[in-house]
Amino acid sequence: MPFFEDFAFDDVPALGGVDSAAFKQGMRLLSAGVTIVTTAIGAQRIGLTATAVCSLTAEPAMLLVCVNREAGAHDPTLQSRIFCVNVLAVQHLDLAMLFADRTRVLERFDHGQWGTLATGAPVLLDSLASFDCILGQTLKAETHTVLIGRVQAVRTSPSLEPLLYANGKFSSFVNGAG
Ligand SMILES: Cc1cc2nc3c(=O)[nH]c(=O)nc-3n(C[C@H](O)[C@H](O)[C@H](O)COP(=O)(O)O)c2cc1C
Repeated sequence: MPFFEDFAFDDVPALGGVDSAAFKQGMRLLSAGVTIVTTAIGAQRIGLTATAVCSLTAEPAMLLVCVNREAGAHDPTLQSRIFCVNVLAVQHLDLAMLFADRTRVLERFDHGQWGTLATGAPVLLDSLASFDCILGQTLKAETHTVLIGRVQAVRTSPSLEPLLYANGKFSSFVNGAG
């Protein structure tokens, strides 16, 4: 197989691997920016807190998000084929916790100021940055789906302080946020 071809997980030779606890212990140490990934189907808005977000290519502008297949926003995003990645600032700590709280799904969009840009996916109007995307490709990866977005619009407020997440805690560059 030429090295540059795509390959499936099934093509990878099975080694011992590591257990999920060891993996999580390591991944907790990878500091991340915090986002709320949103979609909409008609008037219904859905979203979740996500840190598994990554820039993919600049030309064309593409990014990826890894979303658990059990998350409430998973199937609606595949259906709507639009999503927005809203990068949170330190003042959005409560929103980050709300959009990760399974017991408070219905009140999520009652908090924060929401609008739209190009696709109709909910945009947090005072986000640090928002990337409004059309869903380009998906890749099923066991419990998660990798969503590849083609960015249609970007808004930024670069003077805000980013909300960070590392070792199980939210924080900011300046001081602990929570
Ligand atoms: C800091 C943080 C980061 C998270 N990152 C992700 C992520 O990248 N992908 C994901 O599917 N869930 C992630 N989650 C979990 C979801 O936010 C959480 O399971 C949420 O409740 C799912 O939405 P639902 O309640 O509508 O199903 C994260 C949670 C937290 C607190």
